[in-house]
Amino acid sequence: MAILPILEAPDPRLRTISTPVETVDDDLRALIADMFETMYDAPGIGLAAIQVGVPKRVLVIDLQEEQDAEGKPIRNPRVFINPELFDPSEEHSVYQEGCLSVPDQYADVERPAVIHARWLDEKGERHEERLEGLLATCLQHEMDHLEGILFIDHLSRLKREMVMKKLEKARRARRAA
Ligand code: NI
Repeated sequence: MAILPILEAPDPRLRTISTPVETVDDDLRALIADMFETMYDAPGIGLAAIQVGVPKRVLVIDLQEEQDAEGKPIRNPRVFINPELFDPSEEHSVYQEGCLSVPDQYADVERPAVIHARWLDEKGERHEERLEGLLATCLQHEMDHLEGILFIDHLSRLKREMVMKKLEKARRARRAA
């Protein structure tokens, strides 16, 4: 397994539309293992393959909402291959979102509160589920990546430009350090 470099906005590769996975094989499972390692290391709760430069419709999510007796997050890794959404609720919810490709920037984003999703897992098995809460939001955020969309695209132009300026400033400070 390996920790992979994460692309950061405004890297144009993040705007790629990812292509469907044709076969779920060991190469894909190796990529998924690397994606989990990269996500846990960052740390983050979701990662799309394009964020590590691979334009395939693969996502990994682990909300790590619960903790064990020692206060360590309990892992509950979930893999979504070729995910599709249907029947989004009319009711919306707002979460403060962040993204490993837009480091240290957070903003409220409104999305359907409940969705239905279909996908394949790492064994190639089909799943269909009704999802709500943070998982519904996280899956929609990650699925946006497959279309080359970042959460900042859901903000007003003014807010988006502010975030991009802060990112650039942070990058310059890092380079100077
Ligand atoms: Ni993201």
